[in-house]
Amino acid sequence: MSEEKSPIIIGSDHAGFQMKESVKTYLKKVGIKYEDIGPDDEESVDYPVYGIKVSRAVSKGEFERGILICGTGIGMSMVANRFPRVRAALCNHIFSTLMSRQHNDSNLLVMGGRVIGESLAHEIVKTWLETPFEGGRHQNRLGLFDEVEV
Ligand code: RB5
Repeated sequence: MSEEKSPIIIGSDHAGFQMKESVKTYLKKVGIKYEDIGPDDEESVDYPVYGIKVSRAVSKGEFERGILICGTGIGMSMVANRFPRVRAALCNHIFSTLMSRQHNDSNLLVMGGRVIGESLAHEIVKTWLETPFEGGRHQNRLGLFDEVEV
C-alpha cells in the first residue's frame, strides 16, 4: 500500500528555521503529515531558494497547502505570489489568518519568525488549517485574478 500523501509542504530560511521546527512539532502533535524541504539548520541561506521550492509544489498541485517562514514573512510572500494558483497570505495575527481562509482561500501560509512568538504561530496554523473558505462572492473575486495581464 502506498504511503498517504502529505497535505502540507513546509520550508523557511535561517531566520524562520526555529519557528519551522516549532510548527513541525505542532503539526506532529495534531497528527498532520508534512514534508519539510529545509533548511536543516540556522546557517544563512537565501529565502527565495526555499520559497520557490514550496510555492512551485503548491502551484503544480503536488501539495494541497504550503507553509513558509522567513524573518518578517515579507520576502517569502513576494516570492510565493509570483506563482500561478498560489494564494499566499502573510499572517502574523489571528484576524488576518481567519480572513485569509474565509475570503481569500489562501493555500500558502507565511509567517515572520522574527515578528511573532511560537504560541501565536501555533494558533495561527490551527486557525488556518481549520477555517473553511466561504466561496460565493469570494469565489467570483478569486476568479478575477485570472484577468491579470502583464
Ligand atoms: C533574512 O535576514 C531576512 O531578510 C529574511 O528572513 C526575510 O525577512 C526576508 O523578507
